[in-house]
Amino acid sequence: VRPGHLEDRPAIERILRATSAFTDEEVVCALDLVTSGCEHPGRDYFIRVFETGAGPPARVLGYTCHGRSPFTEGTYDLYWIAVDPAHHGSGAARALMSAVESEVAADGGRLILVDTASKPSYARTRAFYEKIGYREVSRIRDYYRPGDDRITYEKRFSPHGTP
Ligand SMILES: CC(C)(COP(=O)(O)OP(=O)(O)OC[C@H]1O[C@@H](n2cnc3c(N)ncnc32)[C@H](O)[C@@H]1OP(=O)(O)O)[C@@H](O)C(=O)NCCC(=O)NCCS
Repeated sequence: VRPGHLEDRPAIERILRATSAFTDEEVVCALDLVTSGCEHPGRDYFIRVFETGAGPPARVLGYTCHGRSPFTEGTYDLYWIAVDPAHHGSGAARALMSAVESEVAADGGRLILVDTASKPSYARTRAFYEKIGYREVSRIRDYYRPGDDRITYEKRFSPHGTP
C-alpha cells in the first residue's frame, strides 16, 4: 500500500468501472477526489493504492480515499474504496483499510466513519465492513432512493492508537 499519484488515475478509473458498483456520477466524483488528493497530498483527500509486486510492471489492484471530516477533532471519513473484481477476496481491501487505520490512529484519529447503501447489490460491501470490525451506527431510510437507505458504519480507536 502506497500513496496514490496522478499516474494511477487511469488504473483507478478502470477499477471503479469494473466493479459495476458506481454510477457515472459517482465515478466522476471519485476521480475528482483522486485528482485533488494526488495534486494536494496531505490536504483534504488522502489516496492510497494497493499495488501487487507480481509483474513487472507492478499493477494497482485497489484504492481508498479518506480524509479528516471537516470541523471535527479526530474524526475521519472513508470516502471511497474499490478493488478490481478479478481480485476480490484476496485481502487487498483489508490491507488498504489497515494502512488507512494505522495512519489515522497515528494522527490522533478517534473515529472512522463509512457511509454505504442498503441495496442488495451492496451486501458484499456491508459484509466486508462488518468482517473488518465496523459496526452500523445510523441508518437514514430511503436516503439514496426509495428503498435504498444510507447506512453509516464506524470504528473507534483508543487514544493509544489501537482499534
Ligand atoms: C468491498 C470490497 C472493497 C472488498 O474487497 P475485497 O478485496 O474483496 O476484500 P478482502 O479480500 O480484503 O476481504 C477482507 C475480509 O472481508 C471478507 N469478505 C469480503 N467479502 C465478503 C463477503 N461477501 N462476505 C463475508 N466476508 C467477506 C473476506 O473474507 C476477508 O476476510 P478474511 O481476511 O478473514 O478472509 C470490494 O468488494 C469492492 O471493491 N466492492 C465494490 C466497490 C464497493 O462496494 N465499494 C464500497 C462502496 S461504499
